[in-house]
Amino acid sequence: MKLFRNRKIKERTLPEHIAIIMDGNGRWAKKRSLPRSAGHAAGAKTFKTIARYCNKIGLKYLTVYAFSTENWKRPPEEVDGIMNLLRDYLKDAENFKQENIRVKFIGDPAPLADDIKQLMKKDEDGSADATGLKLNIAINYGGRDELVRAVRQIAGEELSPDEITEDEIAHRLYTAGMPDPDFIIRPSGEYRLSNFLLWQSAYAEYWFSDVLWPDFKPRHLEQAIDDYNRRSRRFGGV
Ligand code: IPE
Ligand code: IPE
Ligand code: MG
Repeated sequence: MKLFRNRKIKERTLPEHIAIIMDGNGRWAKKRSLPRSAGHAAGAKTFKTIARYCNKIGLKYLTVYAFSTENWKRPPEEVDGIMNLLRDYLKDAENFKQENIRVKFIGDPAPLADDIKQLMKKDEDGSADATGLKLNIAINYGGRDELVRAVRQIAGEELSPDEITEDEIAHRLYTAGMPDPDFIIRPSGEYRLSNFLLWQSAYAEYWFSDVLWPDFKPRHLEQAIDDYNRRSRRFGGV
């Protein structure tokens, strides 16, 4: 795989943490007169390709949005189809372990099927020692839900008002201990966060594209990273 065609590779810096909203599977399928499930299957392939590519270029953290707390609103057949793809992926995750990718799931696992929960735990434990890409997969993840859970924990621990700091909140999020995403990518022509990483995205850079997720290629990621390198991040300073 060719890494960075651009000759100025040495001048380029990788974000530490990239987050991707993997959107557009349904429209990709519709364009081809295929069922939405075919779009999700194609999207799952793209996910594997992009995760491997990120590992290869030495990215530290990749967080992907795979299923939101709002996605349960979809027809049950579609939700079942997505859950089956997740099962396939989880059973296959041994490959990722061999590639030295550390997998972690973020989101509330409670409503997921027991076999899925067990597979998730197995894959997390099995890849815990991997030293390559740290891959977070957001399943039944919602930014607001995450914040509610953090607030509930704080209330349960009876912290006094002045003990409640930004750090205390961040420590109770699924992403505790990780750097915030520097760069959030959303393909499919939508310009919104859809409840993704609300707290963590405070100073993220954004990159949008009309490409539908199943068509998203490593070259689109390269292009995005090129654009990221042209951004001036000031974090409120000068
Ligand atoms: C993203 O693709 C996958 C999930 C949200 C699970 P969509 O299924 O949302 O695709 P579009 O937005 O309908 O094209
Ligand atoms: C966001 O996509 C969630 C995932 C990609 C998993 P959606 O397709 O659910 O978002 P909306 O409904 O267009 O905002
Ligand atoms: Mg969508």
